[in-house]
Amino acid sequence: MGKQNINTIGVMTSGGDAPGMNAALRAVVRASIYNGLNCKGIRLGYQGLIEDNIFSMGPRSVSNIINRGGTILKTARSKEFTTKEGRKKAYENLKKNGIDALVVIGGDGSFTGAKIFSEEHDVKVIGIPGTIDNDIFGTDFTIGYDTALNTVINAIDKIRDTAQSHNRVFFVEVMGRDAGFIALNSGIACGAQDILIPERKDKIEEMFDSMERGRKTGKLSSIIVVAEGEELGGVYDLAKFTKIKYPDYDIRVTVLGHIQRGGDPSCADRVLASRLGIAAVEGLLQGKTRVMAGVRSNKIVFTPIEEAIQKHNEIDQELIKVSDILAR
Ligand code: F6P
Repeated sequence: MGKQNINTIGVMTSGGDAPGMNAALRAVVRASIYNGLNCKGIRLGYQGLIEDNIFSMGPRSVSNIINRGGTILKTARSKEFTTKEGRKKAYENLKKNGIDALVVIGGDGSFTGAKIFSEEHDVKVIGIPGTIDNDIFGTDFTIGYDTALNTVINAIDKIRDTAQSHNRVFFVEVMGRDAGFIALNSGIACGAQDILIPERKDKIEEMFDSMERGRKTGKLSSIIVVAEGEELGGVYDLAKFTKIKYPDYDIRVTVLGHIQRGGDPSCADRVLASRLGIAAVEGLLQGKTRVMAGVRSNKIVFTPIEEAIQKHNEIDQELIKVSDILAR
């Protein structure tokens, strides 16, 4: 038995995939080996734990994945794990495979599962925030967010070309679940005329004012970035109401969808994932459990998993101001 009675670490990816999850997995596997521990991969998240889809991982099983999007472990949102019986089966498989501690790479749904699991059963758990949404408290950035932002701005830059050629207004919907981080940052980076996010409680009249302001100074095309969780209604409704108000506007809608989840991870995501993977293993060896590893002001920090789930990162008011000032 190694330090803190940990001999074997189990690692899984869970919930929505995010670019950089593979880099985090690689770091967990190699940091385990570096510290003299065994590492076992669990395929398909909690469902794989329930179905005993578990295998030993060595340094070569994570070769050539640091640059790959998606997750080689695959991922799932398991219904069965939300039941007590499902979690009992999962625990039995954990014991059968000699796993003493679990690293869960995922978002808040996955952390909720980890928390309940470790309260019910004798297992140490540590979370690594992997989601494009950047909506996890206890870290400045989640793994996958930077890559998703870059994917979004590449797509919107292309939309801008055609919007400008045709003098069109485009409503572009981006992901983020009920958070507006992707929308706000990509909107600033793409020079959006307006950015609608759930945190701001936008009013449609304000969006119309912003459009009119642009028109008055000769703007003939514009891009409105809309977070999927925006409460005014979806992009299609916004386009419809805008057409009613301005019948002469030529309006189009683009929903970027799951392209935002794929692709090779950016440098920032690979480095973040590598750091957090190592931090998770070291945290376990220091006796930490039911915490999430994150970065705050470029330093590794650990946050109780309960707080990571319950609290929310605030939208930066300075960024709202930047977007407002520049949308002229
Ligand atoms: O949490 C990541 C995310 O991509 C959200 O932005 C989005 O709301 C959701 O997952 C989509 O989930 P699914 O892939 O199950 O459609």
